[in-house]
This record gives sequence, structure tokens and C-alpha cells, in this order.
Amino acid sequence: MPEESGDLFEIIATTRSMRRLKPDPVPPELIRKILEAGTAAPSGGNMQRWRFLVVTDPNVKQAVGTYYKRAWDEVVSPRYRAGDPAPGTSPERFRRMLDAAQYLADHIHETPVWIVPCMAGANPSRTAGSSIYPAVQNMLLAARALRLGATLTTLYLTFEKEVESALGLPADVHSYALLPIGYPIGRFGPVRRVPLIEVVYRDRWGQQYSP
Ligand SMILES: Cc1cc2nc3c(=O)[nH]c(=O)nc-3n(C[C@H](O)[C@H](O)[C@H](O)COP(=O)(O)O)c2cc1C
Repeated sequence: MPEESGDLFEIIATTRSMRRLKPDPVPPELIRKILEAGTAAPSGGNMQRWRFLVVTDPNVKQAVGTYYKRAWDEVVSPRYRAGDPAPGTSPERFRRMLDAAQYLADHIHETPVWIVPCMAGANPSRTAGSSIYPAVQNMLLAARALRLGATLTTLYLTFEKEVESALGLPADVHSYALLPIGYPIGRFGPVRRVPLIEVVYRDRWGQQYSP
């Protein structure tokens, strides 16, 4: 099977969060391709203030993974399990997603590579985020094209200070996500979203759009 696959629209439609990952190592040249896809993204004024921390050190992953699991077990999982399923999702499918998220929380430290996109600046904001999340999405798509699984995670931000200190970030640098990457245990499948008609308006807020 070739290492890379697919038409862009096919890749987009199947870039799901892959939370069950094998601990097998990922060749560094594939991580390099993912990082190059990240740095191909736009940023305000093309300033490219992004920095990417590639984490493979088991001690760092263990330390951060403990905070990730605490955030999931104590804060995020109880909230999701007590609430409604995501829009357009059956309770059963939503429960399966939460089970996969639990698996990630239990095993995130065993994931072979993490990429942590960071930027300098004391005030992580909408404007700052706009200059890094395009790179994040490019990396998720590139990982998918290389048949690697990944998930955009932010729930570790519950323990932002502790995690950023365990990652060794300078005081004026903040992380914007943590992407665990590895070969998937399961198969890539289609993403599930509500139809356009529920989320797109024409000219005026609330006015139906029909393509
Ligand atoms: C801003 C953001 C933060 C997220 N944080 C987490 C996270 O901390 N842990 C996790 O397992 N998934 C996380 N996700 C993944 C979403 O749960 C996932 O994208 C969503 O359920 C849709 O599923 P899909 O990506 O498989 O299509 C995050 C996604 C986004 C966009």
C-alpha cells in the first residue's frame, strides 16, 4: 500500500479524530512531512510566529499524560457524560466517541509522537489562534494523507500551567493544542456532521441558504 493516499476532498471527509493509536514508532521523515504541511499554512502577515514542539521523550509524555488523564477523568468526561450527545449524533455513537476519548486519556503517554503547536505572546486570543489553527488543520490532514492517526486536543488546558511547565515552555510561550500522532488501531471512516442547511444562512442571519 502506498504511504500517501488520496484526493483532497476524500482526505478532508475522512480526517476523523483517531484516538486509538499503536505505540509503534513513526518514521521521522513522516513527522517532517506533517510539520512541513503545518508551516505551509497561512499566518497573519506571514509572520510565522508559530513554534512546534515534537515530543517523543517518555518522561515528558508520562508527566503531561497524567495531567491529561486527570483533566479528562475529573472534569471533561463527567461533563460530557451528563450532557446531550453532539448535534446529529445518536446517544450510542456519542457514547462510543466518549469511550474512544477515555482510551486516549488512558494511553496518551504511549502514543509515539506528539506535536505541540506554540506561539509566543502573553495573550492567547482569537487573533492569535487564527495564526496557528490553519497550521494545526494542515497537520491533521497531512497525517491522514500519510495514514497516520491524530486528534486535536485541548482539554489538557485544564492544567495549562502545569502542562506547559512539564513541556518546558518559556513563560511567554503558550501551547494551542496537543496532537498525539501514531498508526491507528482502527480504520479511517467518514466524519459525521449536520447538513449545510442547518448551519449556513444566506445574506441575513437565520435566512435559509439552498445551494
Ligand atoms: C478545539 C478542539 C479541541 C478538542 N479537544 C479534544 C480533546 O482534548 N480530546 C479529545 O479526545 N478530542 C478533542 N477534540 C476532538 C473533537 O472531539 C472531535 O473533533 C469531534 O468530536 C468530531 O469528531 P471527529 O474529529 O472524529 O470527526 C477537540 C477538537 C477541537 C476542534
